[in-house]
Amino acid sequence: MSDKKYNNDLEEIFFNNKGRLINKWSNYFEIYDRHLNKYRGKEITILEIGVFQGGSLDMWQKYFGPKAKIYGIDIDPRCKQFEKENIEILIGSQSDVNFLNEVKQKIPKVDILIDDGGHTMEQMRVSFDNLIDHIKPDGVYICEDLHCCYWLSYGGGYKRKNSFIEYSKNFIDYINAWNSKQYIFKPNNFTKTIQSIHYYDGVIVMEKRIMEQPKNLMTGIASFDYTVETKQTLIRNTKYVFNKIMQTLRLPWHLYY
Ligand SMILES: C[S@@+](CC[C@H](N)C(=O)[O-])C[C@H]1O[C@@H](n2cnc3c(N)ncnc32)[C@H](O)[C@@H]1O
Repeated sequence: MSDKKYNNDLEEIFFNNKGRLINKWSNYFEIYDRHLNKYRGKEITILEIGVFQGGSLDMWQKYFGPKAKIYGIDIDPRCKQFEKENIEILIGSQSDVNFLNEVKQKIPKVDILIDDGGHTMEQMRVSFDNLIDHIKPDGVYICEDLHCCYWLSYGGGYKRKNSFIEYSKNFIDYINAWNSKQYIFKPNNFTKTIQSIHYYDGVIVMEKRIMEQPKNLMTGIASFDYTVETKQTLIRNTKYVFNKIMQTLRLPWHLYY
């Protein structure tokens, strides 16, 4: 495939589409190809929330090949007509927890989930909270059209409480939770199952992996003595107390030791 006019096969499939309507933003193809290329030609399970006119499911089928089993979720029952071999459509709402539980009973664990549904803050959050555990341990969860996180009619707004972008900012803390020394913040299931979070304009990609606390390693031979006196001195203890107070007050000042 790959004509020079296109940056990757996905872009080529999209721009040469003469079939059902597909709706994607221009910067998505590079992102998708970067994170999803490795799944091509494999026996994988894909779940896209938001079927619309069915074109994106056809696009994924062309891109990933005949071994991919593709599921679509949409609230619009007319989408059922887009079912064909290896494409199955489930009708229901992505913010209905009971429906999502039924989906989890019906379909196998998913390699790739793309949330391109209704894009309200609640829909994105409920889907994420309820479906992330249905992604395989090395799978990927993608939420697209995060533009809506800044749009009033979707419940969005810059730094607005409950915006999915604001919600996802907590994920950055979660993947770093191994480093916390505060009892109120400890590694959680997110810390232990998600390796990375990638932010793009309009898209967030979360790659799963069974995680263990990383170790601080060294190899090679020291060229000079670099060890620091670690004995707890009065100065050191005083600095610790000062730092602890600043941390509790969430103030930035700190003393290095
Ligand atoms: C942006 S379109 C999907 C575009 C399609 N994925 C594509 O790339 O061509 C959004 C779809 O989400 C569906 N939708 C809206 N609210 C939903 C909900 N609560 N649950 C599931 N689907 C929903 C709409 O019916 C619509 O078909």
